[in-house]
Amino acid sequence: MVAKRYIVFCDERFLEQAVAELRSVDRGIKFYGTGVVTKKTPILVSTEADIQSTGYVFIDAALPVLFEVKGYGDDLTEAIDTLSRTLDKKKTFKIEALRIDSKIKSSAKDIEVAVGSALENRGFVADLEHPDSAAYLLFTSTMIIAASGEGSGYFIADRFREVVNRKDEKISRSEFKLEEAARYFSIRIDKGTRVLDIGAAPGGWSRYCLRRGASVVAIDAASMDAGLIKEFPRLTHIQKNSDRIEEKSIVDMGKFDILLLDMNISQDKSTEIAKRFSVLLPKGGILLMTVKLVDERIARHIGNARELMSEQFESIKLKKLPHNRKEVTLFAVKK
Ligand SMILES: C[S@@+](CC[C@H](N)C(=O)[O-])C[C@H]1O[C@@H](n2cnc3c(N)ncnc32)[C@H](O)[C@@H]1O
Repeated sequence: MVAKRYIVFCDERFLEQAVAELRSVDRGIKFYGTGVVTKKTPILVSTEADIQSTGYVFIDAALPVLFEVKGYGDDLTEAIDTLSRTLDKKKTFKIEALRIDSKIKSSAKDIEVAVGSALENRGFVADLEHPDSAAYLLFTSTMIIAASGEGSGYFIADRFREVVNRKDEKISRSEFKLEEAARYFSIRIDKGTRVLDIGAAPGGWSRYCLRRGASVVAIDAASMDAGLIKEFPRLTHIQKNSDRIEEKSIVDMGKFDILLLDMNISQDKSTEIAKRFSVLLPKGGILLMTVKLVDERIARHIGNARELMSEQFESIKLKKLPHNRKEVTLFAVKK
């Protein structure tokens, strides 16, 4: 087998965990290149193993390097030619560039515009907001190009730049986490779906569900967005901390299709609450929960969350989504 090169993207806050995930696939994986220089610098690796799995918690993507040239300058023809051969004309595309150790004079933005326009002239269609595919140009001591045929998928973020700068009006930033989770875990929320949203205030997650036709019971001692309550009669707000709801009242709530928990509390507390309310889910019901990773014991928090939920749930998956900060999102299906 010949070793292949990849560029691997992860959130720099979880670099150590991402490296451990790569080593779990190939213990002898080789790291090369400049290492992490800026927040959004990808990891460069060389391995014989297939590391493009989608089951990672902390790795956003591992893309094979399509092209690498040592003596690059300002001429981007080879990059454009490589991408013309690789990208699919039926899919929209976006170019992202990052200069680290640069022999090229143009700025990253100028490179993106130059390569993007050249590809458009060759019949490719650019879409900067929701591209179907994305190509990454990294300028280190060599020029490296990787492209993803699947596009940025649920990753709305620009992988090379600081945080996502979404202009959508929002009730809370959390709303985007639910949007990303619904896409990543393929969760259907539509007319008739009954959702229990614990830690719901100010109401971003609730609104996401309500807009899709679901009816929502929201539990939170804090206030929900006033406009939301007016706009959606399908929203019921129980203005209490979940600990203040007695067992009998829980059972009286009837069954729900989806249980959401997005509380700013420790992993052990949120798993305890999830277990308590899981009686409201039928077999096959879905749980989605934010797991806070407040300190350095990240593997332990994740292991505990998995283990504690496995009594009542199966198909447990965790993912660090683009809008998750020091936390991951847990998905599980009721047994
Ligand atoms: C990050 S905010 C939730 C944001 C919400 N998902 C949204 O999209 O707007 C966390 C919320 O959890 C609530 N919370 C914390 N502990 C709770 C508990 N035991 N029961 C209910 N809510 C709780 C807090 O009051 C706070 O409003």
